Amino acid sequence: MSMTNNEPFKEKMTISKIKKSKNIKKLTMITAYDALFAKLFEQEADMILVGDSLNMSFAGEPDTLSATLDQMIYHTKAVCNGAKSAFVICDMPFGSYINENEALQNCIKVYAKTNAAAVKIEGGADRAHIIKHLTSNSIAVMGHIGLMPQYVRSEGGYIVRGKTQEDTQQLICDAKAVEKAGAFCIVLEGVKTQAATQITQAVQIPVIGIGAGNVTDGQVLVWSDMLGFFESFKPKFVRRYLQGGELVRNAVKEYCNDVQNSTFPSKEEEY
Ligand code: KIV
Repeated sequence: MSMTNNEPFKEKMTISKIKKSKNIKKLTMITAYDALFAKLFEQEADMILVGDSLNMSFAGEPDTLSATLDQMIYHTKAVCNGAKSAFVICDMPFGSYINENEALQNCIKVYAKTNAAAVKIEGGADRAHIIKHLTSNSIAVMGHIGLMPQYVRSEGGYIVRGKTQEDTQQLICDAKAVEKAGAFCIVLEGVKTQAATQITQAVQIPVIGIGAGNVTDGQVLVWSDMLGFFESFKPKFVRRYLQGGELVRNAVKEYCNDVQNSTFPSKEEEY
């Protein structure tokens, strides 16, 4: 630990530190979409994910599928600008990794235009060949298995996984395939806790859970869910650490009242 501007300085995460954390320390990841919030998160969280969930909470779309590569690059740049010492991961959007070559070209574009340390790809054994091609070409890949939001239309909804032994075996197979393809870490989303235990134990790389119980090597939450800004609904696995929506509404109300009562601006706030 050293001090800069009276703020404790958090040592930047690296792939090797992330991998070595398994069975030693729980990893923390939070999403961010802009410089302002990324700067607030970087001192505490081990990793910042620029998730394509921004298409829902930031752009108001019903799912993540219409997020574009340019959109992800724009937000990843903003996050990297705000959180200069953070380990930032850019979520590759739907359709940007349909085959090995396109995936590589698009990931190179992300690396060239942003300071992202890694990319995230949804898919298990079915996408292992793509992950292998990326990692063989020096792209750091975080996998994402279990409930995969980019599969929402092909699966017919957001379906919790690992309810049967057969599905659990499939997920173990996915995790092993993603690990073998060279991913440094795996996000495991929307999985029954008993299955998540077996999947976490089946691989040597850290498994970061979201809606997968307290048995994984770390946790990730979407910032607007955990800070109470996304109020339309609260998934079961989300814990709200702040009532962000309420705080903002109250603050804006106070500001409008102050303007209407002519108490803002005051003499001290004048030039
Ligand atoms: O897009 C996202 O925010 C994610 C997290 C839910 C892991 O993929």
